[in-house]
Amino acid sequence: MTHSVLKAVVIVGATSAFITGCASVNPFAKADPRWAEFKTWTKVTEGTEPTGDPSNLLGAVHKGEGGYRDVYVNDIGKDALLGAAPNNYPEGTVVVKHQFDNKADWESGENGDVTVSIKSADDGTRNKDNWVWAAGMKGKAGPSDFCSGCHTAALGLYDSDYVFTTAGFLEKHAEK
Ligand code: HEC
Repeated sequence: MTHSVLKAVVIVGATSAFITGCASVNPFAKADPRWAEFKTWTKVTEGTEPTGDPSNLLGAVHKGEGGYRDVYVNDIGKDALLGAAPNNYPEGTVVVKHQFDNKADWESGENGDVTVSIKSADDGTRNKDNWVWAAGMKGKAGPSDFCSGCHTAALGLYDSDYVFTTAGFLEKHAEK
């Protein structure tokens, strides 16, 4: 997009969707409304100490083994995520991971960043094309082979459609 086009659209009054779409270039960008209020959602990791690398997959991703990571799910996906496997999520499910470098930041709630999984479509199968992904509160959601490639493992490990942190996941790793 050229600057003149961007300027023209801003002048006539851009929709928030448009601004979000240009998050990386627009200083007025706002968090995507699909996850802006995630802290009011169900906190899946409540009462746990969410660190380590229980599935042995993280490497350096999501702050790595020493990071601390809370997970939140919106009302649309709540029952599916907290229910028994197989976990299959309705369209509109959004899951946020609020991640921190260390325990001190996690306890204070400071210096966190977010990654987001969104079930944007439901063709009745467990398919990566039903999901879009975002990194950062103001990140732009879109398809990602990087994110979906690793999250495919949730199907085999937890019988869950691209989401690791289910009731089954928490139960399994609490026993360790
Ligand atoms: C190398 C593997 C890997 C990659 C790449 C990866 N993730 Fe994850 N992700 C995980 C694992 C494993 C968990 C489960 C929790 C844990 O162990 O911290 C997780 C958890 C999450 C969660 C919490 C819900 C859930 O599925 O448990 C979100 C949201 C998430 N990831 C989003 C993303 C996004 C967005 C990207 C791409 C920018 C991404 N992930 C890339 C491995 C990965």
